[in-house]
Amino acid sequence: MRTPLVMGNWKLNGTKESVATLIKGIESAADSASNVEVAVCPPAIFIEQVANLTANNSIEFGAQDVSTNVSGAFTGETSPVMVKEFGAKYSLVGHSERRQYHNETDAVVAAKFVAIQENGLVPVLCIGETLEERETDKTFAVVETQLKAVIDVAGIAAVENSVIAYEPVWAIGTGKVATSEQAQEVHAHIRSWLKAQSEVVAEKVQILYGGSVKANSAKELFAQADIDGGLVGGAALIIEEFVGIIEGAK
Ligand code: G3H
Repeated sequence: MRTPLVMGNWKLNGTKESVATLIKGIESAADSASNVEVAVCPPAIFIEQVANLTANNSIEFGAQDVSTNVSGAFTGETSPVMVKEFGAKYSLVGHSERRQYHNETDAVVAAKFVAIQENGLVPVLCIGETLEERETDKTFAVVETQLKAVIDVAGIAAVENSVIAYEPVWAIGTGKVATSEQAQEVHAHIRSWLKAQSEVVAEKVQILYGGSVKANSAKELFAQADIDGGLVGGAALIIEEFVGIIEGAK
């Protein structure tokens, strides 16, 4: 059995005050959900604050993005080593907003995936199709291409120590959540595609759904056989919503 993981991606949001309020507001739900892993990905500048606020509770944390480089003349970047030094467990990689607004190609995503793992963090690899790709029946081909780009560089065994987040681009921040059937269909496809390469990896890897998850949609989504939790954006900034999503994963 895979442990469900509920991960909040705060994106470019927060103040020192709101970060403290949010962590305080979700910590007892996280602590009491002993069969659910709970994590948050704050903007890099709040990582130290989140590290301090989560030192005595069960909430894990990660970065939203890291550099492929560990140090050097790379202005504005955050090193995976620095993130690890503060006790982070995860880093997102290949989020559609990074692919879209920062021109991150599959090759860049693969290099970041490797850098994240080499420096002791767990990559959360985000993949998913646009609306146009879905409407032209390319969903499976898109997720396979995105996964293959990473596996070609990192190897299939590396996927065992990662998390995959299926996030249909058309469902991100739009309020249009995929139905549980739509999401399960793609999750099952991802798992069977992985299974053809390694049964062990396919059975072990957590595959999260992301895209307008709310407290009222979480339970049904997470009840699907191949959906192992969620990567939550907007609703992760609202205490009652995020707590409801954690409850939905129990
Ligand atoms: O990383 C999270 C996803 O982009 C989902 O964001 O829940 O606001 O749609 P959302």
